[in-house]
Amino acid sequence: MQSVIDLLKSHRSIRKFNNEAIAPELLTELLLAGQGAATSSFLQGATIIRITAKDTRKEIARLAGKQTYVETAAEFIVFCADLKRAGNYCAAYNKPFAGDFTEHFIIATVDVALMAQSLVAAAESVGLGICYIGGIRNNPHEVSKILGLPRGVYPVFGLCLGYPDQNPEVKPRLPLEVIVKQEVYNEVGDAAAIAQYDDRIREYYRSRTGGGHGVSWSEQVAELLSEKSRPHMKAFLAEQGFTFK
Ligand SMILES: Cc1cc2nc3c(=O)[nH]c(=O)nc-3n(C[C@H](O)[C@H](O)[C@H](O)COP(=O)(O)O)c2cc1C
Repeated sequence: MQSVIDLLKSHRSIRKFNNEAIAPELLTELLLAGQGAATSSFLQGATIIRITAKDTRKEIARLAGKQTYVETAAEFIVFCADLKRAGNYCAAYNKPFAGDFTEHFIIATVDVALMAQSLVAAAESVGLGICYIGGIRNNPHEVSKILGLPRGVYPVFGLCLGYPDQNPEVKPRLPLEVIVKQEVYNEVGDAAAIAQYDDRIREYYRSRTGGGHGVSWSEQVAELLSEKSRPHMKAFLAEQGFTFK
């Protein structure tokens, strides 16, 4: 049997799924596994919305940037950061609601990420493939309207789940010495290690695209961080009640 460590090290996103459904009992187990993740201050600030309606899947796939696997995956769920559920109890216990601090936003968003990743590890352990869909934040207003999200709740990302119909290579990560530092932050040796890593990533893309253009990691992230990134998110989060005091 594969060890948990080997399982986690063999993750790769799956974007092509076969038609096999996920048994309802298994799905419930995966959701419970996700719920087992640690949760900051016991807030339990994550809500999952499962989308089964074909039309809704189609619309969300479009809103996420024509990501067709949102439609073709056996399951598609949306992870929401949720301060409303807990916040309801301020009124119930006659307390002022002060859940709109940046810290609360961080707590709920981290809760979502931890729950999702536990669910993902559980899913991959039984042979399922997954793909996160941050693309739903391309159009967060529309997605929130479809999902009926109230103030205090925002959609962080979607997740496609299903049985893989492809077997992509594992995407190499940065060398550990670039990621893990001793005692204090430093960048000693990073440039040389990243230059070597860039070669690996170019090769990875060449092989993935059958000899096509091999872009390096540093080129990719430089491009990413030189462009505006979903600039609508600030105003959207404020509208949803994440006002960052
Ligand atoms: C929060 C989050 C959002 C993501 N959103 C998308 C997405 O919208 N579409 C997609 O195809 N992949 C998406 N990904 C997958 C990443 O592109 C992928 O994890 C990364 O390239 C590393 O590849 P790997 O997962 O195969 O190791 C997302 C990943 C994360 C963690």
